[in-house]
Amino acid sequence: MKICKVTQNDFQEWLNLALELWPDYSCAEMEVSLTNLLHSDREQGILVRDDHGCAIAFMNLSLRSDYVPDATKSPVAYVEGIYVKAEYRNQDVGKTLIQYAEQWASEQGCIELALDALLDNPASHEFYTKVGFREVERVVFFIKSIVAVNLTASPEENRPIIEARSLEK
Ligand SMILES: CC(C)(COP(=O)(O)OP(=O)(O)OC[C@H]1O[C@@H](n2cnc3c(N)ncnc32)[C@H](O)[C@@H]1OP(=O)(O)O)[C@@H](O)C(=O)NCCC(=O)NCCS
Repeated sequence: MKICKVTQNDFQEWLNLALELWPDYSCAEMEVSLTNLLHSDREQGILVRDDHGCAIAFMNLSLRSDYVPDATKSPVAYVEGIYVKAEYRNQDVGKTLIQYAEQWASEQGCIELALDALLDNPASHEFYTKVGFREVERVVFFIKSIVAVNLTASPEENRPIIEARSLEK
């Protein structure tokens, strides 16, 4: 097994693995996202190859300066994604990647490594706990579509918008 930083030469294999982890992304969206990551000095892509050179796992790392629950120092090293192909799981590949992430975090001057996981992915919670993370917070995201109201217009002018909104309820 070999762990290496992603380079342009690895791009297609990295992209394929990323689309397996995040199937809701289109290929074009993922290409943009990974291209930005590849050229960022605050992020790093890591690829794992087996002894035959096949890409079997990846991890994306970043330095986050926005709010990270319970972090005591900013920026915080963050595991944006970690994925091991199904047939290579439970062979310490994930654990080795987290050890790599810790080393990277330390080299960036960080004292913590953080990540998030979906509520409906309890297997990953088990893994993260096993490799030394502690759960900090559970979050549910909300979103609502909005219709712009002209704040300088009269109530009469805004009435069609407000009526349309109440019809949506
Ligand atoms: C989560 C994932 C990265 C773990 O990788 P892995 O290579 O299988 O994990 P490892 O073999 O290194 O396991 C490390 C430890 O975690 C435990 N572990 C791993 N997966 C586990 C699971 N599903 N349930 C319970 N424990 C688990 C292992 O038993 C091992 O424990 P040990 O040190 O006591 O032996 C991998 O299962 C995966 O890619 N899942 C799909 C993608 C995903 O959910 N990613 C995380 C969300 S972004």
